[in-house]
Amino acid sequence: MGRVGLERVKSGIKGLDELIGGGFPLGSTVLLSGGSGTGKTIFGLTYLYEGARRQNEPGLYITTEGNLKNLLWMMEVFGWDIKPLQESNLLKIYKLNLHTFEDVDRQIEEELKVIARLVKDMGCRRLVVDSTTALGVWITEKGRMRHLVYTFTDALKDLGCTTILIAETKGRKTDFSAFGIEEFISDVVISLYFTPPNRSIFVRKMRGTNHSKTVHPFTISDLGIEVKPKDEIMWEALK
Ligand SMILES: Nc1ncnc2c1ncn2[C@@H]1O[C@H](COP(=O)(O)OP(=O)(O)OP(=O)(O)O)[C@@H](O)[C@H]1O
Ligand SMILES: [Mg+2]
Repeated sequence: MGRVGLERVKSGIKGLDELIGGGFPLGSTVLLSGGSGTGKTIFGLTYLYEGARRQNEPGLYITTEGNLKNLLWMMEVFGWDIKPLQESNLLKIYKLNLHTFEDVDRQIEEELKVIARLVKDMGCRRLVVDSTTALGVWITEKGRMRHLVYTFTDALKDLGCTTILIAETKGRKTDFSAFGIEEFISDVVISLYFTPPNRSIFVRKMRGTNHSKTVHPFTISDLGIEVKPKDEIMWEALK
């Protein structure tokens, strides 16, 4: 099992660490959930980019997104120069390689091996999976799908990284994952909301530590993502 201790890993998200006692607990699994377009991918990329750039901590981005150009383009808009980080093995993007509907379990097992090797080779400390929800497209039977998501995310806990699992929800304020499994696997649950024109963030749970219990606004601009820890949004204002 991943070690969850008092030592903290800086999130790299402006304004967030003061809401969560200095950062994510070292070795924890963090579920980042939200509806479409709430900023999950930007959050995940920022966590790795800032970790690589400022903390010198290697990070691996595991994506189910077919088109890697979207990610690169996003980072370009923010003016990030990721080439040197990639060249020095501080940042890697890996596209999850699932390609047939048959034998998904075996494919997942193979992918876990590839990921474990990448983590070892680059001395990876930070991991992002974007998204666990997309794993669902490969299996129609609900029980098997839950089992697959469980197997995959649970295995990642053994890799010794501080991991963000991204889950896409329908966007309602009490939705935290697509399969109802990810929040139990996770030590920390953070939700992002977009109630036009306001974006907000809520720390739903953090095992064994104190955290802000209110909803806080955040912004996304060309400067990236920024949480406003001093400002609050009423829970009732969310849908
Ligand atoms: N440079 C920018 N300036 C302002 N807003 C931006 C910028 N880049 C992205 N956004 C906003 O962030 C949103 C997308 O964020 P992101 O892709 O991280 O969301 P997501 O939760 O990952 O979405 P999905 O569920 O579709 O993957 C965009 O829809 C846009 O509103
Ligand atoms: Mg996304």
